[in-house]
Amino acid sequence: MECCIVSALWYVIPFYFLISLLCLIFGDADLTLQWACLTGHRPEKKLKGLVVWITGASSGIGEELAYQLAKCGSHLILSARREDELKRVKRTCLEHSEIQDKDILVLPLDLLERASHEKKTQTAVQYFGHIDILINNGGRSQRSLFLETSVDVYQAIMELNFLGTVSLTKQVVPHMTQRGTGSIVTVSSGAGLAGLPLATGYCASKHALQGFFNSLRTELADYPKILVSTVCPGPVQSQIVHNAFTEEMNKSVPTPGDQEYKMPTSRCVHLTLVGIANGVKEMWISQQPFLLFYYVWQYTPTIAWFLTNMLGRKRVKNFKAGMDADSAYFTKPKTS
Ligand SMILES: NC(=O)c1ccc[n+]([C@@H]2O[C@H](COP(=O)([O-])OP(=O)(O)OC[C@H]3O[C@@H](n4cnc5c(N)ncnc54)[C@H](OP(=O)(O)O)[C@@H]3O)[C@@H](O)[C@H]2O)c1
Repeated sequence: MECCIVSALWYVIPFYFLISLLCLIFGDADLTLQWACLTGHRPEKKLKGLVVWITGASSGIGEELAYQLAKCGSHLILSARREDELKRVKRTCLEHSEIQDKDILVLPLDLLERASHEKKTQTAVQYFGHIDILINNGGRSQRSLFLETSVDVYQAIMELNFLGTVSLTKQVVPHMTQRGTGSIVTVSSGAGLAGLPLATGYCASKHALQGFFNSLRTELADYPKILVSTVCPGPVQSQIVHNAFTEEMNKSVPTPGDQEYKMPTSRCVHLTLVGIANGVKEMWISQQPFLLFYYVWQYTPTIAWFLTNMLGRKRVKNFKAGMDADSAYFTKPKTS
């Protein structure tokens, strides 16, 4: 009998490693998240009826989160600065799901106006009675070289991506500790794990979020039913490049570039919801070759630094030549 088990293990263990290797090479999420996709809870079962507050719900990833959560039957609080866009998102949610008008609260909010966050949280709690999940998604990226970028831009990025997120989280967490349950999910980025040229401030803000939430998770260890999770997507189709900070506060990105090579927003959001439904604490979500790069950065930093220097040089060169820094790598030149 013992002999049979040992000889079975000789086949099972290499098979397990082979499957893991294939998932690692060809997958679009880290192995834990892929495993949750295969065997874990379905978001439509786990998230039905839960109250979810999404910031940055007026476009991109936040907008798609609203659509998929509405289909799951979640109750939504939609926040961003542009109220008309939030109302449009709400209408689309109602058209494509079975939830009712009263199940979605449009709550305009500016992450930079920290003094308003207490009142906004009270409004949300009074409306639904509680908040089950806060998805800190609102934020802006950056496209500019350090040497050309005003320090005001660095301050603005940190105020928005880091302090705005911390401020809202500070208002919501006490409600969750009081109930002993809830989820704080923050859309960080691959740039929260690795360095990226042309995005020094953005990377700093996302690294700050990673450090903050990894620390907060340990502080909340006495609340095992409170999930603190960070989502680290690679390039995803959205308005992020169009809305990015540049060298100066009022200058916009000249070439938002191609979206073709990026992960579809719906896929990124689906994986995020699977991660939330299964309590995944850190999610790596990205198409290849970016996902492999996450692993290289995490486990063999010396190789990662070599690669980053090599590829980063090209990214800077593309940028200086007036091309979109990323799509110049991946998009085939259009022939007329
Ligand atoms: N797309 C990607 O490739 C990618 C990759 C990794 C991580 N991410 C992260 O994903 C998140 C969502 O970005 P996205 O790609 O969906 O970009 P997006 O389409 O530009 O959406 C950004 C959202 O943030 C909101 N926002 C911006 N400034 C705000 C402020 N002061 N107060 C409140 N809301 C504000 C915007 O709404 P209003 O303008 O209406 O306020 C918008 O809804 C960001 O945190 C980003 O860093 C994106």
